[in-house]
Amino acid sequence: MIPDSFIEELKNRCDIESIVSPYTNLKRTGRNLKGLCPFHSEKTPSFVVYPENGSFFCFGCGAGGDIVTFVRMAEHLEYTEAIRFLAQKTGMPMPEDAENDQTAKLKVRILELNREAARFFHATLISPKGAKGLQYLRSRGLSDKTIRRFGLGYAPEEWDALKKHLLAKGFTEYEMLEAAVIRKSEKGRSYDQFRDRVMFPIIDLRGGVIGFGGRIMGDGRPKYLNSADTPVFKKSRGLFAMNLAKATKQPRLMLCEGYMDAISVHQAGFDNAVATLGTALTAEQARLIAQYTQEVVICYDSDEAGQKATARANQLFEQTGVKVRVLSIPDAKDPDEYIKKFGAARFNKLVEESSNSTEYAIEKIRRKFPPDTDDGRVGFLKEFCILMSRIPNRVEADYYLGKTASELNVSREAMTSQVDSLRRRSQKKEQKKFDSDLKIYGQDVPAARQDLQRSANMRYALAEDKLIAALLKNPDYGRKLSEKIKPEQFATDFNKGIYSILLERINSGRSLDMISLSSELSIEQMNRISYLLATASQSNPSLEQAQQYADIILEKQRQRTNEQVGSMNEQQLREYIEQLAAGKK
Ligand code: GTP
Ligand code: MN
Repeated sequence: MIPDSFIEELKNRCDIESIVSPYTNLKRTGRNLKGLCPFHSEKTPSFVVYPENGSFFCFGCGAGGDIVTFVRMAEHLEYTEAIRFLAQKTGMPMPEDAENDQTAKLKVRILELNREAARFFHATLISPKGAKGLQYLRSRGLSDKTIRRFGLGYAPEEWDALKKHLLAKGFTEYEMLEAAVIRKSEKGRSYDQFRDRVMFPIIDLRGGVIGFGGRIMGDGRPKYLNSADTPVFKKSRGLFAMNLAKATKQPRLMLCEGYMDAISVHQAGFDNAVATLGTALTAEQARLIAQYTQEVVICYDSDEAGQKATARANQLFEQTGVKVRVLSIPDAKDPDEYIKKFGAARFNKLVEESSNSTEYAIEKIRRKFPPDTDDGRVGFLKEFCILMSRIPNRVEADYYLGKTASELNVSREAMTSQVDSLRRRSQKKEQKKFDSDLKIYGQDVPAARQDLQRSANMRYALAEDKLIAALLKNPDYGRKLSEKIKPEQFATDFNKGIYSILLERINSGRSLDMISLSSELSIEQMNRISYLLATASQSNPSLEQAQQYADIILEKQRQRTNEQVGSMNEQQLREYIEQLAAGKK
Protein backbone atom coordinates (compact mmCIF):
# COMPACT_ATOMS: atom_id res chain seq x y z
CA MET A 1 0.00 0.00 0.00
CA ILE A 2 1.16 3.51 -0.74
CA PRO A 3 1.57 5.50 2.48
CA ASP A 4 -0.73 8.47 3.14
CA SER A 5 2.29 10.72 3.56
CA PHE A 6 3.42 9.93 0.03
CA ILE A 7 -0.02 10.74 -1.37
CA GLU A 8 -0.04 13.94 0.65
CA GLU A 9 3.31 14.98 -0.79
CA LEU A 10 2.18 14.05 -4.29
CA LYS A 11 -0.88 16.21 -3.86
CA ASN A 12 1.27 19.12 -2.73
CA ARG A 13 3.44 18.84 -5.78
CA CYS A 14 0.95 18.19 -8.57
CA ASP A 15 -1.42 20.90 -9.45
CA ILE A 16 -4.40 19.68 -11.37
CA GLU A 17 -4.07 22.32 -14.06
CA SER A 18 -0.69 21.08 -15.21
CA ILE A 19 -1.83 17.45 -15.08
CA VAL A 20 -4.95 18.08 -17.17
CA SER A 21 -3.71 20.65 -19.66
CA PRO A 22 -1.80 18.25 -21.92
CA TYR A 23 -5.15 16.57 -22.66
CA THR A 24 -7.29 19.60 -23.34
CA ASN A 25 -6.97 23.30 -23.79
CA LEU A 26 -8.06 24.99 -20.57
CA LYS A 27 -9.28 28.56 -20.24
CA ARG A 28 -9.62 30.36 -16.96
CA THR A 29 -13.13 31.40 -15.95
CA GLY A 30 -13.02 33.13 -12.60
CA ARG A 31 -11.61 30.69 -10.08
CA ASN A 32 -12.00 27.65 -12.32
CA LEU A 33 -10.77 26.42 -15.68
CA LYS A 34 -12.90 25.22 -18.51
CA GLY A 35 -12.27 23.18 -21.64
CA LEU A 36 -13.52 20.52 -24.00
CA CYS A 37 -13.98 17.23 -22.21
CA PRO A 38 -11.24 14.70 -22.97
CA PHE A 39 -13.64 11.85 -22.13
CA HIS A 40 -16.44 12.43 -24.58
CA SER A 41 -16.71 14.41 -27.78
CA GLU A 42 -18.32 17.81 -27.57
CA LYS A 43 -18.25 21.16 -29.32
CA THR A 44 -18.87 23.50 -26.41
CA PRO A 45 -16.84 23.09 -23.25
CA SER A 46 -18.55 21.49 -20.26
CA PHE A 47 -15.43 20.17 -18.59
CA VAL A 48 -14.49 22.18 -15.51
CA VAL A 49 -11.34 22.04 -13.39
CA TYR A 50 -11.48 23.28 -9.80
CA PRO A 51 -7.93 24.08 -8.71
CA GLU A 52 -9.20 24.88 -5.23
CA ASN A 53 -9.86 21.31 -4.24
CA GLY A 54 -7.93 19.63 -7.02
CA SER A 55 -10.95 18.19 -8.75
CA PHE A 56 -12.58 18.17 -12.17
CA PHE A 57 -16.06 17.46 -13.42
CA CYS A 58 -17.66 17.24 -16.84
CA PHE A 59 -21.25 18.42 -16.86
CA GLY A 60 -21.69 16.70 -20.20
CA CYS A 61 -20.72 13.13 -19.43
CA GLY A 62 -20.38 13.05 -15.65
CA ALA A 63 -16.68 12.17 -15.57
CA GLY A 64 -15.04 13.64 -12.52
CA GLY A 65 -12.63 13.17 -9.66
CA ASP A 66 -9.15 14.12 -8.52
CA ILE A 67 -5.85 13.98 -10.43
CA VAL A 68 -5.45 10.27 -9.82
CA THR A 69 -8.91 9.54 -11.18
CA PHE A 70 -8.11 11.76 -14.13
CA VAL A 71 -4.93 9.87 -14.95
CA ARG A 72 -6.67 6.53 -14.46
CA MET A 73 -9.35 7.52 -16.92
CA ALA A 74 -7.16 9.31 -19.43
CA GLU A 75 -4.34 6.76 -19.49
CA HIS A 76 -6.41 3.67 -18.64
CA LEU A 77 -4.29 2.84 -15.64
CA GLU A 78 -4.84 0.99 -12.40
CA TYR A 79 -4.63 3.00 -9.21
CA THR A 80 -0.98 2.25 -8.40
CA GLU A 81 0.08 2.79 -12.00
CA ALA A 82 -1.64 6.16 -11.97
CA ILE A 83 0.23 7.13 -8.82
CA ARG A 84 3.50 6.07 -10.44
CA PHE A 85 2.65 8.11 -13.52
CA LEU A 86 2.07 11.23 -11.40
CA ALA A 87 5.10 10.61 -9.24
CA GLN A 88 7.29 10.42 -12.32
CA LYS A 89 5.85 13.65 -13.64
CA THR A 90 6.80 15.54 -10.51
CA GLY A 91 10.12 13.82 -10.04
CA MET A 92 9.09 12.06 -6.86
CA PRO A 93 10.63 8.63 -6.51
CA MET A 94 8.04 5.97 -5.77
CA PRO A 95 8.53 4.64 -2.25
CA GLU A 96 10.29 1.50 -3.55
CA ASP A 97 12.51 2.88 -6.29
CA ALA A 98 13.89 5.90 -4.52
CA GLU A 99 17.62 5.44 -5.23
CA ASN A 100 17.89 4.99 -8.96
CA ASP A 101 16.08 8.14 -9.93
CA GLN A 102 17.85 10.80 -11.95
CA THR A 103 15.55 13.59 -10.92
CA ALA A 104 15.94 12.74 -7.27
CA LYS A 105 19.70 13.08 -7.68
CA LEU A 106 19.37 16.41 -9.40
CA LYS A 107 17.18 17.66 -6.61
CA VAL A 108 19.72 16.72 -4.02
CA ARG A 109 22.35 18.60 -6.02
CA ILE A 110 20.14 21.66 -6.29
CA LEU A 111 19.55 21.69 -2.56
CA GLU A 112 23.31 21.46 -1.93
CA LEU A 113 23.92 24.21 -4.45
CA ASN A 114 21.29 26.47 -2.89
CA ARG A 115 22.76 25.94 0.55
CA GLU A 116 26.18 26.91 -0.74
CA ALA A 117 24.70 29.98 -2.42
CA ALA A 118 22.96 31.01 0.81
CA ARG A 119 26.29 30.66 2.66
CA PHE A 120 27.96 32.76 0.02
CA PHE A 121 25.34 35.51 0.21
CA HIS A 122 25.50 35.58 4.01
CA ALA A 123 29.31 35.60 4.09
CA THR A 124 29.31 38.43 1.56
CA LEU A 125 26.85 40.42 3.65
CA ILE A 126 29.13 40.45 6.66
CA SER A 127 32.25 41.08 4.57
CA PRO A 128 33.40 44.55 3.41
CA LYS A 129 31.81 43.86 0.02
CA GLY A 130 28.41 43.59 1.69
CA ALA A 131 28.55 46.79 3.75
CA LYS A 132 25.84 48.35 1.64
CA GLY A 133 23.48 45.42 2.21
CA LEU A 134 24.17 45.20 5.91
CA GLN A 135 23.56 48.89 6.32
CA TYR A 136 20.26 48.55 4.44
CA LEU A 137 19.02 45.71 6.64
CA ARG A 138 20.03 47.58 9.79
CA SER A 139 18.29 50.69 8.53
CA ARG A 140 15.15 48.58 8.33
CA GLY A 141 15.48 47.85 11.99
CA LEU A 142 16.82 44.32 11.86
CA SER A 143 19.20 43.24 14.60
CA ASP A 144 22.30 41.20 13.84
CA LYS A 145 20.67 38.31 15.66
CA THR A 146 17.66 38.44 13.36
CA ILE A 147 19.90 38.68 10.29
CA ARG A 148 21.72 35.56 11.43
CA ARG A 149 18.56 33.70 12.39
CA PHE A 150 17.11 34.14 8.92
CA GLY A 151 20.48 33.70 7.20
CA LEU A 152 19.99 36.93 5.27
CA GLY A 153 22.62 37.83 2.71
CA TYR A 154 23.82 40.12 0.01
CA ALA A 155 24.34 39.37 -3.69
CA PRO A 156 27.23 41.54 -4.92
CA GLU A 157 26.95 44.00 -7.73
CA GLU A 158 28.79 41.78 -10.21
CA TRP A 159 27.77 39.63 -13.16
CA ASP A 160 29.25 36.35 -12.05
CA ALA A 161 30.32 36.47 -8.41
CA LEU A 162 28.06 33.59 -7.41
CA LYS A 163 28.72 31.63 -10.59
CA LYS A 164 32.49 31.76 -10.00
CA HIS A 165 32.05 30.77 -6.41
CA LEU A 166 29.85 27.78 -7.24
CA LEU A 167 32.15 26.62 -10.06
CA ALA A 168 35.00 26.63 -7.57
CA LYS A 169 32.86 24.48 -5.25
CA GLY A 170 32.36 21.90 -8.00
CA PHE A 171 28.88 22.76 -9.24
CA THR A 172 28.24 22.75 -12.98
CA GLU A 173 26.63 25.45 -15.03
CA TYR A 174 23.81 23.03 -15.84
CA GLU A 175 23.08 22.59 -12.15
CA MET A 176 23.11 26.35 -11.62
CA LEU A 177 20.63 26.83 -14.42
CA GLU A 178 18.40 24.13 -13.03
CA ALA A 179 18.56 25.84 -9.63
CA ALA A 180 17.73 29.15 -11.35
CA VAL A 181 20.55 31.03 -9.63
CA ILE A 182 22.05 31.94 -12.99
CA ARG A 183 20.36 32.67 -16.28
CA LYS A 184 21.38 32.67 -19.93
CA SER A 185 21.30 35.72 -22.16
CA GLU A 186 20.07 35.39 -25.72
CA LYS A 187 23.68 35.31 -26.86
CA GLY A 188 24.19 32.27 -24.68
CA ARG A 189 26.23 33.85 -21.91
CA SER A 190 25.20 33.04 -18.42
CA TYR A 191 25.18 35.44 -15.50
CA ASP A 192 24.00 35.65 -11.89
CA GLN A 193 20.27 35.97 -11.42
CA PHE A 194 20.61 38.08 -8.25
CA ARG A 195 22.86 41.13 -8.30
CA ASP A 196 23.12 43.97 -5.82
CA ARG A 197 20.20 42.79 -3.72
CA VAL A 198 19.71 41.78 -0.12
CA MET A 199 18.87 38.10 -0.09
CA PHE A 200 16.23 36.13 1.80
CA PRO A 201 16.77 32.37 1.64
CA ILE A 202 13.54 30.34 1.53
CA ILE A 203 13.81 27.19 3.58
CA ASP A 204 11.40 24.28 3.48
CA LEU A 205 10.08 22.16 6.32
CA ARG A 206 13.00 19.77 6.13
CA GLY A 207 15.49 22.59 6.37
CA GLY A 208 16.46 22.58 2.69
CA VAL A 209 17.19 25.91 1.01
CA ILE A 210 14.71 25.74 -1.87
CA GLY A 211 14.93 29.25 -3.29
CA PHE A 212 15.57 32.93 -2.72
CA GLY A 213 13.91 36.29 -2.62
CA GLY A 214 16.08 39.30 -3.32
CA ARG A 215 15.15 42.89 -2.52
CA ILE A 216 16.51 45.86 -4.35
CA MET A 217 17.87 48.48 -1.95
CA GLY A 218 16.79 51.59 -3.74
CA ASP A 219 13.68 52.28 -5.70
CA GLY A 220 14.19 50.20 -8.91
CA ARG A 221 12.05 47.39 -10.23
CA PRO A 222 11.28 44.72 -9.53
CA LYS A 223 11.33 45.48 -5.83
CA TYR A 224 11.50 41.81 -4.99
CA LEU A 225 12.93 39.20 -7.29
CA ASN A 226 12.02 35.62 -6.45
CA SER A 227 13.65 32.41 -7.66
CA ALA A 228 11.94 30.97 -10.69
CA ASP A 229 10.28 27.61 -10.16
CA THR A 230 12.78 24.76 -10.08
CA PRO A 231 12.55 21.02 -9.40
CA VAL A 232 12.69 21.85 -5.68
CA PHE A 233 10.77 25.11 -5.60
CA LYS A 234 7.34 26.29 -6.52
CA LYS A 235 6.46 29.79 -5.50
CA SER A 236 2.78 29.10 -5.05
CA ARG A 237 3.58 26.30 -2.61
CA GLY A 238 6.35 27.73 -0.54
CA LEU A 239 5.92 29.64 2.68
CA PHE A 240 8.69 31.83 3.97
CA ALA A 241 9.80 31.08 7.57
CA MET A 242 7.61 27.98 7.83
CA ASN A 243 10.74 26.09 8.89
CA LEU A 244 10.95 28.28 12.00
CA ALA A 245 7.24 28.73 12.63
CA LYS A 246 6.44 25.03 12.58
CA ALA A 247 8.35 24.61 15.84
CA THR A 248 6.41 27.28 17.69
CA LYS A 249 4.73 26.52 21.01
CA GLN A 250 2.03 29.04 20.18
CA PRO A 251 -1.35 27.56 19.26
CA ARG A 252 -1.50 29.68 16.10
CA LEU A 253 0.43 30.89 13.08
CA MET A 254 0.61 34.45 11.82
CA LEU A 255 0.30 34.80 8.07
CA CYS A 256 1.96 37.85 6.49
CA GLU A 257 2.17 39.15 2.95
CA GLY A 258 5.88 39.72 2.66
CA TYR A 259 9.33 38.65 3.78
CA MET A 260 10.00 41.81 5.76
CA ASP A 261 6.72 41.54 7.61
CA ALA A 262 7.34 37.96 8.68
CA ILE A 263 10.85 38.86 9.83
CA SER A 264 9.74 41.94 11.78
CA VAL A 265 6.98 39.98 13.45
CA HIS A 266 9.55 37.37 14.50
CA GLN A 267 11.80 40.06 15.84
CA ALA A 268 8.86 41.49 17.76
CA GLY A 269 8.72 38.25 19.72
CA PHE A 270 6.54 35.93 17.66
CA ASP A 271 8.26 32.79 16.46
CA ASN A 272 5.17 31.76 14.54
CA ALA A 273 5.04 34.15 11.57
CA VAL A 274 5.13 32.96 7.96
CA ALA A 275 4.69 34.73 4.62
CA THR A 276 3.58 33.84 1.15
CA LEU A 277 6.08 34.62 -1.59
CA GLY A 278 4.36 37.44 -3.41
CA THR A 279 1.42 35.39 -4.67
CA ALA A 280 -2.08 35.16 -3.30
CA LEU A 281 -2.53 32.38 -0.79
CA THR A 282 -3.26 29.07 -2.53
CA ALA A 283 -5.43 26.21 -1.33
CA GLU A 284 -2.29 24.12 -0.99
CA GLN A 285 -0.63 26.62 1.28
CA ALA A 286 -3.80 26.87 3.34
CA ARG A 287 -3.83 23.10 3.73
CA LEU A 288 -0.17 23.05 4.64
CA ILE A 289 -0.78 25.63 7.34
CA ALA A 290 -3.79 23.65 8.53
CA GLN A 291 -1.52 20.68 9.15
CA TYR A 292 0.52 22.65 11.64
CA THR A 293 -1.95 24.76 13.51
CA GLN A 294 -5.52 25.18 14.67
CA GLU A 295 -5.67 28.91 14.18
CA VAL A 296 -4.30 31.54 11.83
CA VAL A 297 -3.98 35.24 12.37
CA ILE A 298 -4.04 36.94 8.99
CA CYS A 299 -1.71 39.93 9.12
CA TYR A 300 -2.05 41.33 5.64
CA ASP A 301 -1.43 44.88 4.48
CA SER A 302 -4.03 47.43 5.46
CA ASP A 303 -4.58 48.64 1.87
CA GLU A 304 -7.45 47.56 -0.30
CA ALA A 305 -5.50 44.80 -2.01
CA GLY A 306 -4.53 43.45 1.38
CA GLN A 307 -8.14 43.45 2.53
CA LYS A 308 -9.28 41.64 -0.59
CA ALA A 309 -6.57 39.08 -0.09
CA THR A 310 -7.70 38.70 3.52
CA ALA A 311 -11.25 37.87 2.48
CA ARG A 312 -9.97 35.32 0.01
CA ALA A 313 -7.59 33.72 2.49
CA ASN A 314 -10.42 33.59 4.99
CA GLN A 315 -12.46 31.53 2.54
CA LEU A 316 -9.62 29.14 1.86
CA PHE A 317 -9.06 28.55 5.56
CA GLU A 318 -12.76 28.00 6.10
CA GLN A 319 -12.47 25.00 3.81
CA THR A 320 -9.67 23.55 5.90
CA GLY A 321 -11.46 24.03 9.20
CA VAL A 322 -8.73 26.27 10.58
CA LYS A 323 -9.97 29.08 12.82
CA VAL A 324 -9.19 32.51 11.49
CA ARG A 325 -8.52 35.78 13.19
CA VAL A 326 -7.86 38.94 11.29
CA LEU A 327 -5.47 41.60 12.38
CA SER A 328 -6.42 45.08 11.30
CA ILE A 329 -3.49 47.42 11.35
CA PRO A 330 -4.35 51.03 12.04
CA ASP A 331 -2.12 53.89 10.86
CA ALA A 332 0.44 51.75 9.08
CA LYS A 333 0.76 50.01 5.75
CA ASP A 334 1.82 46.63 7.04
CA PRO A 335 2.95 44.83 10.20
CA ASP A 336 6.59 45.75 9.59
CA GLU A 337 5.79 49.44 9.38
CA TYR A 338 3.47 49.23 12.40
CA ILE A 339 6.13 47.61 14.55
CA LYS A 340 8.68 50.17 13.45
CA LYS A 341 6.34 53.05 14.24
CA PHE A 342 4.71 51.89 17.46
CA GLY A 343 6.94 49.14 18.81
CA ALA A 344 6.63 45.45 19.55
CA ALA A 345 4.49 45.86 22.67
CA ARG A 346 1.74 47.71 20.83
CA PHE A 347 1.85 45.09 18.10
CA ASN A 348 1.42 42.37 20.71
CA LYS A 349 -1.63 44.11 22.01
CA LEU A 350 -3.03 44.36 18.50
CA VAL A 351 -2.66 40.62 18.05
CA GLU A 352 -4.38 39.91 21.34
CA GLU A 353 -7.28 42.07 20.31
CA SER A 354 -7.49 40.77 16.76
CA SER A 355 -10.93 39.67 15.81
CA ASN A 356 -12.31 36.37 14.66
CA SER A 357 -13.76 36.12 11.19
CA THR A 358 -17.32 37.00 12.24
CA GLU A 359 -16.09 40.09 14.02
CA TYR A 360 -14.11 40.91 10.95
CA ALA A 361 -17.18 40.62 8.73
CA ILE A 362 -19.15 42.83 11.14
CA GLU A 363 -16.35 45.36 11.13
CA LYS A 364 -16.49 45.45 7.34
CA ILE A 365 -20.21 46.23 7.39
CA ARG A 366 -19.59 48.86 10.01
CA ARG A 367 -17.05 50.52 7.76
CA LYS A 368 -19.47 50.45 4.84
CA PHE A 369 -22.35 51.83 6.91
CA PRO A 370 -21.04 53.85 9.83
CA PRO A 371 -23.98 53.47 12.23
CA ASP A 372 -23.72 56.99 13.61
CA THR A 373 -26.33 58.38 11.21
CA ASP A 374 -29.89 57.13 10.73
CA ASP A 375 -29.18 56.01 7.18
CA GLY A 376 -26.04 54.29 8.29
CA ARG A 377 -27.86 52.47 11.07
CA VAL A 378 -30.55 51.19 8.72
CA GLY A 379 -27.97 49.95 6.23
CA PHE A 380 -25.84 48.46 8.94
CA LEU A 381 -28.69 46.59 10.63
CA LYS A 382 -29.96 45.22 7.36
CA GLU A 383 -26.61 43.72 6.35
CA PHE A 384 -25.82 42.69 9.88
CA CYS A 385 -29.02 40.63 10.11
CA ILE A 386 -28.28 38.98 6.77
CA LEU A 387 -24.83 38.08 8.04
CA MET A 388 -26.26 36.65 11.26
CA SER A 389 -28.83 34.57 9.40
CA ARG A 390 -25.97 32.87 7.56
CA ILE A 391 -24.04 31.84 10.65
CA PRO A 392 -24.77 28.14 11.05
CA ASN A 393 -24.12 28.21 14.80
CA ARG A 394 -27.06 29.85 16.57
CA VAL A 395 -25.26 30.33 19.84
CA GLU A 396 -22.62 32.36 18.06
CA ALA A 397 -25.22 34.39 16.21
CA ASP A 398 -27.08 35.04 19.47
CA TYR A 399 -23.93 36.32 21.06
CA TYR A 400 -23.34 38.92 18.35
CA LEU A 401 -27.01 39.84 18.23
CA GLY A 402 -26.96 40.60 21.92
CA LYS A 403 -23.73 42.51 21.72
CA THR A 404 -24.80 44.62 18.77
CA ALA A 405 -28.27 45.25 20.16
CA SER A 406 -26.84 46.80 23.29
CA GLU A 407 -24.13 48.71 21.42
CA LEU A 408 -26.60 50.30 19.04
CA ASN A 409 -29.36 50.42 21.60
CA VAL A 410 -31.91 48.62 19.44
CA SER A 411 -34.34 45.90 20.44
CA ARG A 412 -32.74 42.51 20.54
CA GLU A 413 -36.09 40.79 20.03
CA ALA A 414 -36.79 42.71 16.86
CA MET A 415 -33.40 41.81 15.47
CA THR A 416 -33.73 38.17 16.44
CA SER A 417 -37.10 37.86 14.77
CA GLN A 418 -35.71 39.50 11.65
CA VAL A 419 -32.83 37.02 11.61
CA ASP A 420 -35.22 34.11 12.14
CA SER A 421 -37.37 35.16 9.24
CA LEU A 422 -34.30 35.50 7.02
CA ARG A 423 -33.25 32.03 8.06
CA ARG A 424 -36.68 30.62 7.25
CA ARG A 425 -36.65 32.34 3.90
CA SER A 426 -33.31 30.87 2.95
CA GLN A 427 -34.39 27.45 4.16
CA LYS A 428 -37.45 27.71 1.94
CA LYS A 429 -35.21 28.67 -0.95
CA GLU A 430 -33.02 25.69 -0.21
CA GLN A 431 -36.11 23.47 -0.10
CA LYS A 432 -37.26 24.84 -3.45
CA LYS A 433 -33.87 24.23 -4.95
CA PHE A 434 -34.01 20.73 -3.54
CA ASP A 435 -37.36 20.12 -5.18
CA SER A 436 -36.29 21.50 -8.52
CA ASP A 437 -33.09 19.49 -8.39
CA LEU A 438 -35.31 16.54 -7.80
CA LYS A 439 -37.13 17.20 -11.05
CA ILE A 440 -34.09 17.62 -13.25
CA TYR A 441 -31.98 15.02 -11.52
CA GLY A 442 -31.48 11.87 -13.49
CA GLN A 443 -31.51 13.86 -16.67
CA ASP A 444 -28.46 15.89 -15.85
CA VAL A 445 -26.27 13.43 -14.00
CA PRO A 446 -25.22 11.32 -16.91
CA ALA A 447 -23.35 8.89 -14.75
CA ALA A 448 -26.49 8.05 -12.78
CA ARG A 449 -28.86 7.50 -15.68
CA GLN A 450 -28.52 3.75 -15.60
CA ASP A 451 -28.94 3.43 -11.86
CA LEU A 452 -32.42 1.98 -11.44
CA GLN A 453 -32.22 1.81 -7.69
CA ARG A 454 -31.45 5.49 -7.70
CA SER A 455 -34.26 6.48 -9.99
CA ALA A 456 -36.71 4.46 -7.93
CA ASN A 457 -35.58 6.28 -4.79
CA MET A 458 -34.82 9.69 -6.18
CA ARG A 459 -35.93 11.71 -3.16
CA TYR A 460 -33.80 9.69 -0.75
CA ALA A 461 -30.89 9.41 -3.15
CA LEU A 462 -30.84 13.16 -3.42
CA ALA A 463 -30.89 13.57 0.36
CA GLU A 464 -28.01 11.07 0.52
CA ASP A 465 -26.11 13.14 -2.01
CA LYS A 466 -26.59 16.25 0.09
CA LEU A 467 -25.61 14.46 3.26
CA ILE A 468 -22.43 13.17 1.63
CA ALA A 469 -21.60 16.63 0.28
CA ALA A 470 -22.10 18.12 3.76
CA LEU A 471 -19.82 15.49 5.26
CA LEU A 472 -17.14 16.02 2.63
CA LYS A 473 -17.05 19.69 3.46
CA ASN A 474 -17.32 19.13 7.21
CA PRO A 475 -15.64 15.95 8.37
CA ASP A 476 -16.30 17.17 11.90
CA TYR A 477 -19.99 16.34 11.44
CA GLY A 478 -18.98 12.69 11.15
CA ARG A 479 -19.47 11.69 14.77
CA LYS A 480 -22.92 13.24 15.16
CA LEU A 481 -24.10 12.00 11.77
CA SER A 482 -22.92 8.46 12.32
CA GLU A 483 -24.93 8.39 15.54
CA LYS A 484 -27.97 9.54 13.62
CA ILE A 485 -27.79 7.40 10.53
CA LYS A 486 -25.87 4.25 9.69
CA PRO A 487 -24.74 3.35 6.18
CA GLU A 488 -27.14 0.38 6.17
CA GLN A 489 -30.02 2.82 6.45
CA PHE A 490 -29.19 4.44 3.13
CA ALA A 491 -31.65 3.79 0.33
CA THR A 492 -29.10 3.33 -2.46
CA ASP A 493 -26.17 0.94 -2.37
CA PHE A 494 -24.03 3.31 -4.36
CA ASN A 495 -24.20 6.09 -1.77
CA LYS A 496 -24.11 3.61 1.08
CA GLY A 497 -20.66 2.54 -0.10
CA ILE A 498 -19.40 6.10 -0.22
CA TYR A 499 -20.89 7.03 3.16
CA SER A 500 -19.43 4.05 4.95
CA ILE A 501 -15.94 4.70 3.59
CA LEU A 502 -16.16 8.35 4.59
CA LEU A 503 -17.22 7.45 8.13
CA GLU A 504 -14.45 4.87 8.46
CA ARG A 505 -11.87 7.37 7.36
CA ILE A 506 -13.16 10.03 9.72
CA ASN A 507 -13.14 7.58 12.61
CA SER A 508 -9.54 6.65 11.97
CA GLY A 509 -8.50 10.28 11.59
CA ARG A 510 -7.66 10.04 7.91
CA SER A 511 -8.06 12.73 5.30
CA LEU A 512 -11.14 13.22 3.12
CA ASP A 513 -9.18 15.00 0.41
CA MET A 514 -10.15 13.98 -3.08
CA ILE A 515 -6.77 12.48 -3.74
CA SER A 516 -6.80 10.46 -0.53
CA LEU A 517 -10.29 9.20 -1.24
CA SER A 518 -9.28 7.96 -4.65
CA SER A 519 -7.25 5.21 -3.00
CA GLU A 520 -10.45 3.63 -1.68
CA LEU A 521 -13.27 4.75 -3.93
CA SER A 522 -13.99 3.43 -7.40
CA ILE A 523 -13.77 5.67 -10.44
CA GLU A 524 -17.58 5.80 -10.52
CA GLN A 525 -17.73 6.85 -6.89
CA MET A 526 -15.08 9.52 -7.52
CA ASN A 527 -17.15 10.75 -10.47
CA ARG A 528 -20.12 11.14 -8.19
CA ILE A 529 -18.21 12.87 -5.43
CA SER A 530 -16.76 15.38 -7.83
CA TYR A 531 -20.27 15.99 -9.11
CA LEU A 532 -21.48 16.64 -5.58
CA LEU A 533 -18.66 19.04 -4.88
CA ALA A 534 -19.07 20.77 -8.23
CA THR A 535 -22.75 21.39 -7.69
CA ALA A 536 -22.82 21.91 -3.93
CA SER A 537 -24.19 25.38 -3.40
CA GLN A 538 -21.79 28.00 -2.12
CA SER A 539 -23.35 27.95 1.30
CA ASN A 540 -22.01 25.29 3.58
CA PRO A 541 -24.78 23.21 5.18
CA SER A 542 -24.93 23.43 8.95
CA LEU A 543 -24.97 20.33 11.09
CA GLU A 544 -28.72 20.82 11.60
CA GLN A 545 -29.27 20.84 7.84
CA ALA A 546 -27.20 17.71 7.43
CA GLN A 547 -29.30 16.06 10.13
CA GLN A 548 -32.42 17.06 8.25
CA TYR A 549 -31.09 15.27 5.18
CA ALA A 550 -30.60 12.24 7.39
CA ASP A 551 -34.22 12.57 8.53
CA ILE A 552 -35.37 12.46 4.92
CA ILE A 553 -33.39 9.28 4.30
CA LEU A 554 -34.76 7.76 7.49
CA GLU A 555 -38.31 8.40 6.26
CA LYS A 556 -37.65 5.72 3.71
CA GLN A 557 -36.60 3.38 6.44
CA ARG A 558 -39.87 4.02 8.28
CA GLN A 559 -41.88 3.65 5.12
CA ARG A 560 -40.23 0.36 4.39
CA THR A 561 -40.89 -0.83 7.91
CA ASN A 562 -44.55 0.13 7.65
CA GLU A 563 -44.88 -1.82 4.43
CA GLN A 564 -43.18 -4.79 5.98
CA VAL A 565 -45.31 -4.62 9.08
CA GLY A 566 -48.41 -4.44 6.92
CA SER A 567 -47.58 -7.71 5.23
CA MET A 568 -46.55 -9.64 8.33
CA ASN A 569 -48.45 -12.58 9.68
CA GLU A 570 -49.33 -12.68 13.36
CA GLN A 571 -46.25 -14.62 14.42
CA GLN A 572 -43.90 -12.26 12.57
CA LEU A 573 -45.70 -9.29 13.99
CA ARG A 574 -45.31 -10.55 17.55
CA GLU A 575 -41.60 -11.14 17.06
CA TYR A 576 -41.26 -7.73 15.55
CA ILE A 577 -42.90 -6.07 18.54
CA GLU A 578 -40.72 -8.02 20.93
CA GLN A 579 -37.66 -6.85 19.07
CA LEU A 580 -38.90 -3.29 19.23
CA ALA A 581 -39.40 -3.60 22.97
CA ALA A 582 -35.87 -4.98 23.32
CA GLY A 583 -34.62 -1.89 21.52
CA LYS A 584 -33.27 -3.75 18.52
CA LYS A 585 -35.25 -1.88 15.89
P1 GTP B 1 9.11 46.12 1.88
O1 GTP B 1 8.84 47.21 0.90
O2 GTP B 1 10.51 45.61 1.79
O3 GTP B 1 8.67 46.43 3.25
O4 GTP B 1 8.28 44.86 1.45
P2 GTP B 1 6.73 44.64 1.60
O5 GTP B 1 6.56 43.26 2.11
O6 GTP B 1 6.08 45.74 2.35
O7 GTP B 1 6.35 44.68 0.08
P3 GTP B 1 4.97 44.58 -0.61
O8 GTP B 1 3.85 44.71 0.36
O9 GTP B 1 5.08 45.53 -1.75
O10 GTP B 1 5.01 43.12 -1.20
C1 GTP B 1 4.68 41.97 -0.46
C2 GTP B 1 5.36 40.77 -1.09
O11 GTP B 1 5.05 40.71 -2.46
C3 GTP B 1 6.86 40.81 -1.03
O12 GTP B 1 7.36 40.24 0.15
C4 GTP B 1 7.26 39.99 -2.22
O13 GTP B 1 7.21 38.60 -1.93
C5 GTP B 1 6.18 40.31 -3.21
N1 GTP B 1 6.61 41.36 -4.13
C6 GTP B 1 6.62 42.69 -3.91
N2 GTP B 1 7.10 43.35 -4.97
C7 GTP B 1 7.39 42.41 -5.88
C8 GTP B 1 7.92 42.46 -7.20
O14 GTP B 1 8.24 43.51 -7.74
N3 GTP B 1 8.07 41.27 -7.85
C9 GTP B 1 7.74 40.09 -7.28
N4 GTP B 1 7.91 38.95 -7.98
N5 GTP B 1 7.24 40.01 -6.04
C10 GTP B 1 7.08 41.15 -5.34
MN1 MN C 1 6.66 46.72 4.01
